[in-house]
Amino acid sequence: MWSQVQIPKTMKAIQASLKTGGLDVLELNEIPVPSPKANEVLIKVQWTGTNYIDTYIRSGLYPRPMPFTLGGGLVGTIASLPSSPPLSTGSLPALELGQTVLSNAAGAFAEYAVAPAHQVAALPKDVDPKDGVHMTIPAFTAMYLVKESYEVTKGDWILVRAAAGGVGLLLCQLVKHYGGNVIGTVSTEAKASEAKAAGADHVLLTTSSSSDNVAEILRITGGKGVQAVYDGVGKDTWEENFEVIRKKGSIVTYGNASGAVPAFEPLKLMAKCVKVSRPTLNVFIEEPEDFARYAGLIFDAVKAGGLKFSIHKVYPFTAEGVAQSQTDITSRGTTGKLLIKVAE
Ligand SMILES: NC(=O)c1ccc[n+]([C@@H]2O[C@H](COP(=O)([O-])OP(=O)(O)OC[C@H]3O[C@@H](n4cnc5c(N)ncnc54)[C@H](OP(=O)(O)O)[C@@H]3O)[C@@H](O)[C@H]2O)c1
Repeated sequence: MWSQVQIPKTMKAIQASLKTGGLDVLELNEIPVPSPKANEVLIKVQWTGTNYIDTYIRSGLYPRPMPFTLGGGLVGTIASLPSSPPLSTGSLPALELGQTVLSNAAGAFAEYAVAPAHQVAALPKDVDPKDGVHMTIPAFTAMYLVKESYEVTKGDWILVRAAAGGVGLLLCQLVKHYGGNVIGTVSTEAKASEAKAAGADHVLLTTSSSSDNVAEILRITGGKGVQAVYDGVGKDTWEENFEVIRKKGSIVTYGNASGAVPAFEPLKLMAKCVKVSRPTLNVFIEEPEDFARYAGLIFDAVKAGGLKFSIHKVYPFTAEGVAQSQTDITSRGTTGKLLIKVAE
């Protein structure tokens, strides 16, 4: 039994239908509007955006059953929701038909997407829907990193890799918001300015020599190194992390922009008693209370002025638009968020 507004039978979606691989696998297809399961809502998508993970999924690094619709994270309006039994939305307010909401839903490059009801939150009234896209995967990721992967405490020194990226700019702000100090690494002076504007105390260029950067990080931290590294770059920065982490510090490797981190022996961790974790967002928001907690923390940080958002560019909702956004994010030419407008 569903209460709903008028919903078409088919919709446009950006998919890979036959194989994974290069940008040429992206297609704009007309497919059936998905049917929500008993605990799911159907959302009419307005805004979504490109995340680096889309390129791992498109290339096949993170396999998905074929065919699949690309994209993750959206802002839109609720088109249908189950009327009975009552929705479980953790401690968040109940959802309403037509309400503007945000979700980390997969399959977001489409006119409609489904999401578990307990992973959908009403967009706060004073937040622009475009900003709401930053508050999906990038903000949820930055928030679980600073709260759970390594919980930032006052006075900590934290190294943020790719500090001017979509997640990176939010990490800089959240580490500062919770009282930490940020050392960022980026590839250009322009990105360094963006990271500083987001609160980074020191920003080092990856074009400088690794030994100079290591020496500088040790100098800044009084010879001890950083309490934690949040690293979405992966392979290229992996070894350097061990030189700048302090004893009993945490290396959090949460992405593979330069390639996946290679296999290593646990003995590598012994000299400094380093903790390594390799988290992924879905595990942190599986339970209704967890999604609600993180949504609440993000809304509070935005309200307190601790999170501001930077848009790289708005791309059209076409296979070419998505391909261009993936070219731009993988060529290291972007800062902040790459948005895609699906509908008014
Ligand atoms: N585990 C999770 O839960 C989770 C969730 C969301 C995102 N992520 C990961 O977080 C990372 C950031 O995602 P994002 O969407 O915000 O992307 P992004 O940071 O906006 O873009 C990636 C950045 O990585 C840096 N980079 C370093 N070496 C690179 C290389 N060889 N090729 C391409 N880029 C390189 C670039 O910054 P510089 O030019 O400044 O080096 C680039 O701008 C990604 O690894 C993504 O997979 C993980």
